[in-house]
Amino acid sequence: MSSDPHSGDGASETTVCIPRDALVAFASRLLCAAGLSDADAGLAASALVNADARGVASHGVARLPVYLDRLHRGGTDPRAQPVVERRSGAVAVVDGANALGLVVARYGMRQALQLAKERGAGVVACRRSGHFGAAAEYALMGPPEGCIAIAMTNVNAAMAPWGGSTPLIGNNPIAIAAPAPGSPFVVDMALSTVARGKIRLAATRGEPIPPDWAIDGAGKPTIDARAALEGLLTPLGGPKGSGLAIAVDILSGLLSGSAFGADLVPQNRYGQTQDVGHLFIALHVAAFTDPDNFQNRIAFMLDTIRHSAPAPGYDGVLVPGDIERDNERHADEHGITLHGRTYAALLRAAVALGVAAPTDVSGVRYG
Ligand SMILES: NC(=O)c1ccc[n+]([C@@H]2O[C@H](COP(=O)([O-])OP(=O)(O)OC[C@H]3O[C@@H](n4cnc5c(N)ncnc54)[C@H](O)[C@@H]3O)[C@@H](O)[C@H]2O)c1
Repeated sequence: MSSDPHSGDGASETTVCIPRDALVAFASRLLCAAGLSDADAGLAASALVNADARGVASHGVARLPVYLDRLHRGGTDPRAQPVVERRSGAVAVVDGANALGLVVARYGMRQALQLAKERGAGVVACRRSGHFGAAAEYALMGPPEGCIAIAMTNVNAAMAPWGGSTPLIGNNPIAIAAPAPGSPFVVDMALSTVARGKIRLAATRGEPIPPDWAIDGAGKPTIDARAALEGLLTPLGGPKGSGLAIAVDILSGLLSGSAFGADLVPQNRYGQTQDVGHLFIALHVAAFTDPDNFQNRIAFMLDTIRHSAPAPGYDGVLVPGDIERDNERHADEHGITLHGRTYAALLRAAVALGVAAPTDVSGVRYG
């Protein structure tokens, strides 16, 4: 070990490696200390560490200090529990009661899956929620239940609609997961060129960003991550990403009765409720077709894609979710690697909350 991971000094140059279980336990202790029940803390901690394990560090435990600040300053209610407030056929509407978005979202998708098992499909809109992390976390609840699952959320405005200059739409992510032999298909993406969390992570690490990710406060493309955070994200594929982001806001925000567009409160107004909306759709494969036949057909489809000829400059063709699945296998075998600054921020939170840090942490030089 070349540097002390428990020291704030040199944190920008180190990474630390923590076994997955130990990181879940640590994150869970922090959330419990912030007032969550053991059950809610455990599932929120698992959701964040799942993102880290899948290599989506922008939506992993790096987010924990913000969630903890919101819990501390009253923007999120640690003891609130989501509840179904309206039900009609295969549709339910959940009042998130301003609980942690990670808790509301899991509850919402669980309701959608239950409806899908009973009726073939389930559609659940959640209002009065908060930032829910990585959308794949909820879509991936579908395949083990024999369901295709779709998860989406609105986010505070971070992009201008195509051709405009006023931030009116979030980069509203959407994830779709389908059962498949071996490992599920899962595509999970923000509707900006990249998720804002990736820019935040680059800013935390003091690293530059590619010039097409964002514009600065003056509307100019920038490679400075901090300047990008003061400006706007660019929509994925221009008018197409812009259009889809508006559609996700209609589905997540308008349908659920939550805030939408420029009225969504950003996470960093720690004392204010966000009123985020989500939509979860579950489709029970067995209600549509023979599940074994579906498995054979999706295996054929994905294998055909994976074994198709690579274009010049590419080693091979991947299916969405392949990279994250391989990352997860690596994390399970070797532990989860966190950037030194991310870990240092968790240690500061642990000191503030009187929580014990993990003991089985190893550190390595960064870069
Ligand atoms: N909760 C929120 O408010 C919020 C907002 C925005 C984004 N997010 C989350 O941020 C995360 C990152 O989003 P992103 O848009 O930066 O994702 P990304 O660009 O890293 O990946 C998008 C998708 O492309 C696939 N992919 C990547 N490389 C591939 C390749 N070579 N071949 C085939 N498929 C490939 C990935 O498997 C993934 O499904 C997501 O989990 C998203 O849900 C959350």
